Amino acid sequence: MVTTRTPLIAGNWKMNLDHLQAIAFVQKLAWSLKDAKHDHSSVEAAVFPPFTDLRSVQTLLDADGLSLVLGAQDLSAHDSGAYTGEVSGASLAKLDVHYVLVGHSERRTLHAEDDTVVATKVAAAHRNGLVPVICVGETADDLETHGPSAVPVAQLRASLAGVPATAEIVVAYEPVWAIGSGKAATADQAEQVCAALRQALVELVGADRAAATRILYGGSVKSTNIASFLREPNVDGALVGGASLDVDEFARIVRFESHVGV
Ligand code: 13P
Repeated sequence: MVTTRTPLIAGNWKMNLDHLQAIAFVQKLAWSLKDAKHDHSSVEAAVFPPFTDLRSVQTLLDADGLSLVLGAQDLSAHDSGAYTGEVSGASLAKLDVHYVLVGHSERRTLHAEDDTVVATKVAAAHRNGLVPVICVGETADDLETHGPSAVPVAQLRASLAGVPATAEIVVAYEPVWAIGSGKAATADQAEQVCAALRQALVELVGADRAAATRILYGGSVKSTNIASFLREPNVDGALVGGASLDVDEFARIVRFESHVGV
């Protein structure tokens, strides 16, 4: 099947880089991609800085007409009100944020976000015109107990409970055991789960939306392994953590097509 899904390379900075560092980073990334004549319509590149950087990065992208896309790392399930410390989808949308991560394993583990919370956040993103990047993935224990795709598929199913089938979403398959471990899944492993996720989407949102939805792989992605993932038919991009903090390395990952035969 010829795919029409534009690959997405997303850099999740996690809790790194202050707003001044963010400006320098994004400027350098934009120059580097421009120098390499990167075609943003063939591979989309997005950065997910901490909340405190978003306004600065937005201003830079806007002032310099840069084609990088802005994402946030989380959002509140609520749109406004007495929720000290939370950031609403409405406020993110005002900052031209396009994507928002929901259900990252670090939020699930460190902030006790269960499938119900994730579903309400996916609904909040959709309500505010943001595209949720729904993160799913199994732990090493889950893998042993349930096999490779049962947990990610169940998480995906639960996360879509509050949105219409027509809602645009991105799915990120991030095996917890591969995050920050330096031990990425193999391309075969990633493809197996991404194919199962797409099959689940057929059932959940219909064949057309399933075929149009991008499914990313995340977990120890680097410039040396990105091409192997993107060769798989059901892997449409990557959610990159550690390697997204090195401008040159992230630019190489975005430009995977130039070394896809490597
Ligand atoms: P690493 O690329 O550092 O393994 O992190 C992956 C991740 O959690 C991206 O969201």
